[in-house]
Formats: sequence, C-alpha cells, structure tokens
Amino acid sequence: MYKTKAYSAASATSRLASTQIPRRDPTERDVQIEILFCGICHSDLHQVRNEWSGVMPTVYPCVPGHEIVGRVTKIGSGVTKFKPGDLAAVGCMVDSDGTCPECKAGLEQFCPNFTLTYNFPDKHLGGVTYGGYSDSIVVNERFVLRVPANLNLAGAAPLLCAGITTFSPMHHWGVTKGQKVGIVGLGGLGHMGVKFAHALGAHVVVFTTSPNKKEDALRLGADEVVVSRNADEMKKHVGSFNFILDAVAADHDINAYISLLARDGNITLVGAPEKPLSVSAFSLIMGRRSLSGSPIGGIAETQEMLDFCGKNNITADVEVIPIQKVNEAYERLLKADVKYRFSIDMASLKSE
Ligand SMILES: NC(=O)c1ccc[n+]([C@@H]2O[C@H](COP(=O)([O-])OP(=O)(O)OC[C@H]3O[C@@H](n4cnc5c(N)ncnc54)[C@H](OP(=O)(O)O)[C@@H]3O)[C@@H](O)[C@H]2O)c1
Ligand SMILES: [Zn+2]
Ligand SMILES: [Zn+2]
Repeated sequence: MYKTKAYSAASATSRLASTQIPRRDPTERDVQIEILFCGICHSDLHQVRNEWSGVMPTVYPCVPGHEIVGRVTKIGSGVTKFKPGDLAAVGCMVDSDGTCPECKAGLEQFCPNFTLTYNFPDKHLGGVTYGGYSDSIVVNERFVLRVPANLNLAGAAPLLCAGITTFSPMHHWGVTKGQKVGIVGLGGLGHMGVKFAHALGAHVVVFTTSPNKKEDALRLGADEVVVSRNADEMKKHVGSFNFILDAVAADHDINAYISLLARDGNITLVGAPEKPLSVSAFSLIMGRRSLSGSPIGGIAETQEMLDFCGKNNITADVEVIPIQKVNEAYERLLKADVKYRFSIDMASLKSE
C-alpha cells in the first residue's frame, strides 16, 4: 500500500479539499497509472452532495472522478495489455466478477458484482473506492482502456463517461444516417451526444434551456436548435423523432419530449435527476413510444467508442482547470455554465 495525493469531500456540505489516500501496490494483473487529466461529471456533484442517497448513499470522505486519462507507471507481473509509459484510461468501473452472463456478454455495466470507480466497496483495501481527483490509481488491466495517440488528452478524459454514456444508447437503439435525433440538455453528456449523432449521419436537433448556447450547438454538429422553454418552437417537432437522448441533470417535464417522438420512437434517459420524473401514460400509449434508461457502457464498447473517436478525431470541448478550482466548477455546473466539460489538469495537485 502507498499514499497518494487527492481531493476529497468530508461531508455532503463540505467543499472538496486536499488530502492523502491509500492505494494498493499493483498485484499481478494491475496497472498503476499516473493521472494526467480527470473530467468533472455532474454525477461527481450528485454523489459528493449525497443527492442519490436513496440508491447510492455516499460514504465520506468521498474522492470522486471517473473520467481518467494518464500514463502507466508500473505493471503487475501478469499484465499483457500495457507497459510503463503507455497512455491509459479508466472510466466508471474498475472491476466485475468476469463470470456472470452479463460479463460474458461484454456488458460489465450490468454485472451484479461490479465495482464502481468511487464510493463502492473496495475489495482490496476495505472501505470504499477512491476516484480520479487524485495523483494515481491502480486498476486491473481488464478495466484499463487504450487511448488513441492522436487525441488531445484533456479532451479525451470526458470520453470515459460522457462519451460512452451517449455513444452506447445510440448504438443500442440503432441511430443511423437519415434519422431525426434529439439531444436534450447541452452539457457534458449532451454535447458528446451531438457529436456522436452528427458523426453517425443523423439529423440532430438540440433542445436547450440556454438561448446563448445556440451558436455552439450548431458548431458542435446540430442541424437545428430549439429553446425548450418556447412552446411554439417545441410544437413544430411533434411526432417527428426516431430517438431522443435526455441528458438533463435536474427536474424537468419529459412529457414534452415524449410527444415529439414518432411512432415507435424511443426516448432514453441518461440524466439522473435527484427527484422522480412524472410520466404521462397517454403520451407513451399513443404512438407506441418507449421510454428507457441507459448506464455507461461495457468495456469492449468503451474501447470501440475511443477507437471511433480516434478515427473521427472526436474529443470533448473542455475548459481545463487546476484542481484548486473544483468547488467553483461545481457551482458553475449547477448554473448550466460549462462549455462543455471541465477537465482537471492533475499536475496542479502536485503543489498541494
Ligand atoms: N446514465 C449514466 O450512466 C450517466 C453517466 C454520466 C452522467 N449521468 C447523469 O447525466 C446528467 C447530466 O450530466 P452532465 O455531466 O452532462 O451534466 P451537465 O454538464 O451539468 O449538463 C446538464 C445540462 O442539463 C441542462 N439543465 C440543467 N438544469 C436544467 C433544468 N432545470 N431544466 C432543464 N435543463 C437543465 C443544461 O443544459 P442546457 O443549458 O442546454 O439546458 C445542463 O447543461 C446528470 O444527472 C448525471 O448524473 C448519467
Ligand atoms: Zn460520469
Ligand atoms: Zn459479472
């Protein structure tokens, strides 16, 4: 075991602050990674503030961060995928049983025995896992991803959650060329959704509550932008979408979006607001529409997404910040003031 620098929250109402955390020495199949960049996901904020207490109560101190890219510093004797000096990435999961039907199907995100990157029982050290707002991390090579060499690292980090979480449902629901696809909420997830839907050849419509994001949405790949608080603009799209991805982090009316779906259209929730949403049965029944959810993606699919990004030169649009600005960044997330992901330059942690 060794100690490494990190930023943690001591309670649901505490600011994140500098600390030291334990990490295990790499065992046979482990890869030790020096973290270079870590994205800030809205889930980090939900978790730090214990907003998901009903499903995933937060254990303190909490070290969030699951959009990790870095360089391999050490490997266990049985590691074959990586060597010291390689670029490496880690997303929302660090382990699973590897034997259940979900794991065998490459769907580790549904494994009943998976381990999330932070705030999850740590099978090695006891206590809970600690995430990427930290100098280094040690992860089984099965859960370590390769980063295409052409990608900017600060912009590649958010692919590990915002990227896979938007890529996976589009893949699952068969988004293809010529379809009409809506993206609700132009934040970290939403802006990746726009990039992927555009790259897949769909006609992309962004729904935003922020009129000042219109130009950006078009630049990111949207064909049309709708300010969702404008009922007349919304009406024009009734019954027309094949697929809508809802990436909103707060309470909102999803019935307004269900009615925009065409027959057999699907709306997938990836946003995970604190409070339950209310759904009108009629808007689903009429048109045989469906509402579903989707969590991140499996390891093989995450690698496929990274390779797709390498080929198509896709990264997140990031504002790079030092770790000392993390509390300020959280406040800005709450005001939907992020363009479009904060990526922490982890070199800033060395001065703590
Ligand atoms: N399913 C999964 O596996 C998964 C993975 C990662 C994250 N998540 C969840 O996905 C959600 C989004 O995460 P994120 O990191 O993309 O968050 P984010 O960067 O903060 O973006 C959320 C966006 O939602 C919109 N929004 C915020 N408040 C709103 C309101 N009151 N009404 C309507 N729209 C509002 C804003 O877009 P506009 O300004 O354009 O309106 C905002 O930029 C979070 O709940 C997060 O926990 C889920
Ligand atoms: Zn996330
Ligand atoms: Zn499993």
